[in-house]
Amino acid sequence: MQLVTEDNITDLAVERWATARDPRLAELMTALVRHLHDFAREVRLTEAEWMAAMQWLTRTGQISDDKRLEFVLASDVLGLSMLVVQMNHRLDPAATPATVLGPFHIAGSPELGFGGDMSDGLPGQPLFVHGTVRDLDGKPVPDAVLDVWQADDEGVYEAQLGEVDEARLRAKYTSREDGTYCVRTIAPKGYTIPMDGPVGDLIGRTEISHFRPAHIHFLLDVPGYEPLITHLFQEGADYLDSDVVFGTKQELVVRFEHRPPGETPDGGTSSEPWVEARYDFVLQRRS
Ligand SMILES: [Fe+2]
Repeated sequence: MQLVTEDNITDLAVERWATARDPRLAELMTALVRHLHDFAREVRLTEAEWMAAMQWLTRTGQISDDKRLEFVLASDVLGLSMLVVQMNHRLDPAATPATVLGPFHIAGSPELGFGGDMSDGLPGQPLFVHGTVRDLDGKPVPDAVLDVWQADDEGVYEAQLGEVDEARLRAKYTSREDGTYCVRTIAPKGYTIPMDGPVGDLIGRTEISHFRPAHIHFLLDVPGYEPLITHLFQEGADYLDSDVVFGTKQELVVRFEHRPPGETPDGGTSSEPWVEARYDFVLQRRS
């Protein structure tokens, strides 16, 4: 029998988890054990601190459901989500860069036509986001589905509300034969991440800003191309330099131009002032 000591516990645990039948799982679990043990040794983890961590993880699970993804939020504010995104999407510098998915995406958004209004009468400044989906050679990508979602004028996502009758500030648009797309919505605002849960409890004990700069989320999963999950950020928005989830990239910062009443990019007219954001999504072919 091998007696357990402070010195051999890590080797014993690694040996045990190395028996995982899937080799990748064995690699992940043995590395996790080594790093967790190293962490505990480095900080001389106390039993009270260990129990507090267990209770924090328990609360994080308890507050989560199919809409509230507190573990995703925890991963986001720790910078882990962005690290994983960057390691797994080393795209050509000329392609649109990826950023975090975030905790508020809802699958199955309704399909809207060119210039269809996903804000559906919600208060806010009318905004048209339009441009082309193309590849690295500049060729248009037709039939690309752009899954779009954003927060409302108060910084709240549909996923943060209770039951909602219809999709709220989310829709799917399809690029036309010439690659062009047009989203009609309302100008997004910066917002705070949810501070009423365990992630907020932790953030509240630091000097970390809990805000995100104004942005709109896009997901483009086009056959033959690298899938792209990204945001467009408003140039000059607050918190661009302190995004709490580390999601901001200079290439994704877009000018929002104020326009007077008149013709709009969907071919219609607006009787009130509106805002225009132009952006070309550049997709990289799947290797
Ligand atoms: Fe967001």
